[in-house]
Amino acid sequence: MKQISFSILISILVISMSTLNAQQGEEIPLPQPQRTGGMPLFEALDKRQSLRSYSPGGLSSQDLSNLLWAAFGINREDGRRTAPSARNWQQFDIYLIMADGWYMYDANNHSIIKKGNEDLSEYAGTQDFTATAPLNIIFVSDHSRITGNVSREKKDFNSATDAGFISQNVYLFCASEGLATVVRGLVDRDKLHEVLRLRPEQHVILGQSVGYPGD
Ligand SMILES: Cc1cc2nc3c(=O)[nH]c(=O)nc-3n(C[C@H](O)[C@H](O)[C@H](O)COP(=O)(O)O)c2cc1C
Repeated sequence: MKQISFSILISILVISMSTLNAQQGEEIPLPQPQRTGGMPLFEALDKRQSLRSYSPGGLSSQDLSNLLWAAFGINREDGRRTAPSARNWQQFDIYLIMADGWYMYDANNHSIIKKGNEDLSEYAGTQDFTATAPLNIIFVSDHSRITGNVSREKKDFNSATDAGFISQNVYLFCASEGLATVVRGLVDRDKLHEVLRLRPEQHVILGQSVGYPGD
């Protein structure tokens, strides 16, 4: 137990040290993702579940690196990703809401970019537990990347399906690492659109809370 508390403390320190003093617009490199290991797939599937209680400890930068790579990182030299996307549009941006600010994942550089210093946790979802999670991911579909003659209905359909794949990657990573997570459709999309300063073509699809399990 003592060991767990100590490692959580170290995690908070590590992530805080790397992000706390970051300025808006600053790119924060993540450690290389650990692309091997983890729990055997069938064990992770066996453990996959939604959990809505989180302890206050944040993720270490290595955890965050692995999580983001698992979610929607680049896994091949041609730039394709760990989750499929219709016609390889790769229209998703992953926004991260944490206590010390909000960020966007840059898969090309495997880094996070600080977009703002505000703690937007209160806007991350409409359920009380959301604000207690040290990390809230917001999946944002950028329709301007869905090129060709594609109807709005089809864009919405592809955005909904593609978000599911990314979310399931997060679920399996969390199962493997003993983290708690839940995907959330209950988000105030208009409010998030405003506070994340999104462009009109960007659409909030889902949120997903992540943290170490609480009681
Ligand atoms: C598209 C989608 C939206 C969801 N939205 C929410 C939500 O807003 N809040 C929540 O607490 N759980 C949400 N969930 C999680 C489901 O409630 C959960 O997956 C379901 O109860 C089954 O539990 P399990 O994931 O542990 O198997 C959502 C799941 C999906 C797939």
